[in-house]
Amino acid sequence: MKFFIDSADLDAIAELADVGLVDGVTTNPSIIAKSGRNFKDVIAEICRLTPGHVSAEVVATDADTMIKEGRILRKIAENVCVKLPLTLDGLKACNTLSKEEIPTNVTLCFSPNQALLAAKVGATYISPFIGRLDDITLDGLELIEDIRTIYDNYGFETEILAASIRNVNHVKECAIVGADVITAPPQVVKSLANHVLTDKGLAAFLKDWEGTGQSI
Ligand code: G3P
Repeated sequence: MKFFIDSADLDAIAELADVGLVDGVTTNPSIIAKSGRNFKDVIAEICRLTPGHVSAEVVATDADTMIKEGRILRKIAENVCVKLPLTLDGLKACNTLSKEEIPTNVTLCFSPNQALLAAKVGATYISPFIGRLDDITLDGLELIEDIRTIYDNYGFETEILAASIRNVNHVKECAIVGADVITAPPQVVKSLANHVLTDKGLAAFLKDWEGTGQSI
């Protein structure tokens, strides 16, 4: 499973990259707005920090302008992945950019049929939003399972990039059902390491070791 960081916080990305937990980064217009940074500058800096794909989202809504914006974003760095909304115009833009071998991430996916269309037009990644489905009492993980089944049925190479991840249970469930990638806020990724019994056990080990009076 690949771990992408869903953030434009350079310090948080660098911290997790040092641990070895960053395979890529995803952003969206809301994340960029929250950063307060110039879009192209912050994407360029993230690309320098990150070995894998960095998703940068177009803001146009018509296919022709999406394609123009996608080509501009792709020129920022060789690991830029162009993010496109799951609309007919977004799918048309994905079809064109994919044929130009530009990596694409089709986002705002909320149904298996939407994911099927993204694979048909050659998307590199599909981003189903788990948390936002849970928010309206639907089952976000069921969507991941359904997409996994459909993609495996037909051998689609589009990678399932589970997004809108809000907690560690989402990560566990995505790993169980076979998502290819999760993208999560830095704090969720860091909290995957936490367990009260680990802390308790380590404290006991160190206390007992201290009693030996030895050092390594
Ligand atoms: O990558 C999509 C993600 O940023 C959306 O998350 O929590 O706003 O649904 P959220």
